[in-house]
Amino acid sequence: MNRDTIVVGASGASGMPLLIQCLKLIRAAGRSAVLIMSDSAALTLRQETGLEPADLAGLADAVYGPDEVGAPPASGSWPAAGMLVVPCSMKTTAGICAGYADNLLLRAADVTIKEHRPLVLAARETPMSAIHLRNLHELAMLPTVRVIPPMLTFYHKPETIDEMVYHIAAKLVEPFGVEAKEYRRWQGL
Ligand SMILES: Cc1cc2nc3c(=O)[nH]c(=O)nc-3n(C[C@H](O)[C@H](O)[C@H](O)COP(=O)(O)O)c2cc1C
Repeated sequence: MNRDTIVVGASGASGMPLLIQCLKLIRAAGRSAVLIMSDSAALTLRQETGLEPADLAGLADAVYGPDEVGAPPASGSWPAAGMLVVPCSMKTTAGICAGYADNLLLRAADVTIKEHRPLVLAARETPMSAIHLRNLHELAMLPTVRVIPPMLTFYHKPETIDEMVYHIAAKLVEPFGVEAKEYRRWQGL
């Protein structure tokens, strides 16, 4: 493990194809990822893709469950490039915002913030309540935190859902210096 490793947390919001695409982009860029999945993420992964957490093992250097609070990403002394939470549920958002680190995903996010490393949150819920928005606002005020909700985009003329997923995933990994080869950037009118 080295400072190139990106900690990827997956919580139980909708958006598992985004998680998979982000892991693929990180790997394609020659970077490494360790994956932390909450129990609800495993449930959502099954519901949305028919896959099991073990099926993602080939896309990450290690896969940890939420109870493995002694795993490397639980410590700031373990070097990492930062952390991406994709998808990020409102429960996990609240936990990160409150510093309530009662599982490995929340602890790793807490560590990322205290070490001033980049933390990207693919926060997903709709509609968002005032509570959700308050928590996201508080987190967005931290200079190392970026809130990147997976919102639909059309300006790049996507023809398939996969193209939409790719575009959003490219935005999510970019803060870590991961370049997505087929990312269609805005070229101007
Ligand atoms: C299929 C499915 C989709 C869900 N989608 C969302 C969502 O988009 N956003 C959200 O905040 N919670 C969503 N939830 C609810 C969370 O999974 C639930 O609040 C859970 O306790 C979150 O736990 P975690 O943050 O530890 O993963 C969804 C649940 C299921 C089963």
